[in-house]
Amino acid sequence: MKILIALMAAVALSQAEKLRYDNHTLYRIVPRTAKMFEALKTMEEQAFASGYTFFSEVGSVNVPVDILVPPKQAEEFKRVTEHPDIESTLLNENIQEAIDNEGFRPESRAGGFGWTNYHTLDEINDWLKDLAFNYDDKVQLLVGGTTSQGRDILGVKIHIPSNEPKKAVFIEANIHAREWVTSATATYILNELLVSQDWEVRQLVELYDWYIFPVTNPDGFVHSHNSNRMWRKTRTRYSTLCFGADPNRNWPYQWMQGGASNQPCSDTYAGPNALSEACTDSLSQFIDSIGDDLIAYISFHSYSQMLLLPYGHTTSHLSNYKEMYDIGVQAVRELEAKYGTRYVVGNIAETIYVATGGSMDWVKHKFGTPIAYTYELRDTGTNGFLLPANQIIPTADETLISIKSIFRQYRERHSDP
Ligand SMILES: *[C@@H]1O[C@H](CO)[C@@H](O)[C@H](O)[C@H]1NC(C)=O
Ligand SMILES: [Zn+2]
Repeated sequence: MKILIALMAAVALSQAEKLRYDNHTLYRIVPRTAKMFEALKTMEEQAFASGYTFFSEVGSVNVPVDILVPPKQAEEFKRVTEHPDIESTLLNENIQEAIDNEGFRPESRAGGFGWTNYHTLDEINDWLKDLAFNYDDKVQLLVGGTTSQGRDILGVKIHIPSNEPKKAVFIEANIHAREWVTSATATYILNELLVSQDWEVRQLVELYDWYIFPVTNPDGFVHSHNSNRMWRKTRTRYSTLCFGADPNRNWPYQWMQGGASNQPCSDTYAGPNALSEACTDSLSQFIDSIGDDLIAYISFHSYSQMLLLPYGHTTSHLSNYKEMYDIGVQAVRELEAKYGTRYVVGNIAETIYVATGGSMDWVKHKFGTPIAYTYELRDTGTNGFLLPANQIIPTADETLISIKSIFRQYRERHSDP
């Protein structure tokens, strides 16, 4: 009884501390002139003070920006949207409702791990540990790094014993805390690699070593569960009010060369220096230790339905862009064939906006990894980060279809696996 009361008190406390988004409204706006673009840029810079949350960045003229507007700014924002040089669409009238409808049902957790629900960090980590126990002949539990709050970045390596050394595939997810469907997709694919009867999946797990890290920003992920569903960054304390750097603007290649902020309150704060964050610093050391073995680095983000190629600092088509573009186009064609989900393919800077200090760019540049993709998973904004849990399986399923396609095409083009 005592335990139950303590438990209820703890639950009540965590509920009370949870930030609510009642009547917060999501808009998509498109600046049609340079002047409007500049005005939006200023708004973005002052977002923390005014209470706006930018779900995407102000890239350039004619590029849409998704902005979450708190009720206290509703009047001011309405005036902005009435400007003739701005196009605006209401995406969601009340984000709290979308949060409530996301389908996260704690009561069903007792039923075990699955993909009809989103999971907490503890549940994901327990599941990884179970895998290492249940498949001890091929799954090894790994600590890929640690965080500023002392959490481990847990992952697994799948290795089917063989006489030949194998190339490795690295899957990184949930480096942005609020992008929950990314870890759900990573765990789904991990599970498929172990249980699927599909010959092509079996072949993939035989051919390569797989390193899969479902939650690479554990502190931020826990914060997005317990306190603020819209949290993106790490949780390093940078000032009285401002926490966290953007762990995907923090890697030491082209760091702070555009599309990143030097303001600690900004959602795209690059950190005081490259690898300032414990999670990126430690994970980079882990990747360093296997970097030369990598044939592929795949990073999962949401949302937008895009398959992105390096690099984020330039629209130039560097390295093996052409081949990876062609492979990507065919891969998203196969992805679309399953459920009709449409993807756009291109390099980061030309497809979304200039963004620097991302993990994929660092890996590609440092190790010359031939296959390097960043997915922006479902959807295109209707639910955004709050993708209902009943879309996890189709999202992960179509993503796996595209991954099979990528490796199939790559092997057709290169005799050596
Ligand atoms: C949200 O807006 C509705 C309609 O204006 C209002 O009745 C309700 O009290 C608001 N909710 C909160 C929590 O502010
Ligand atoms: Zn992201």
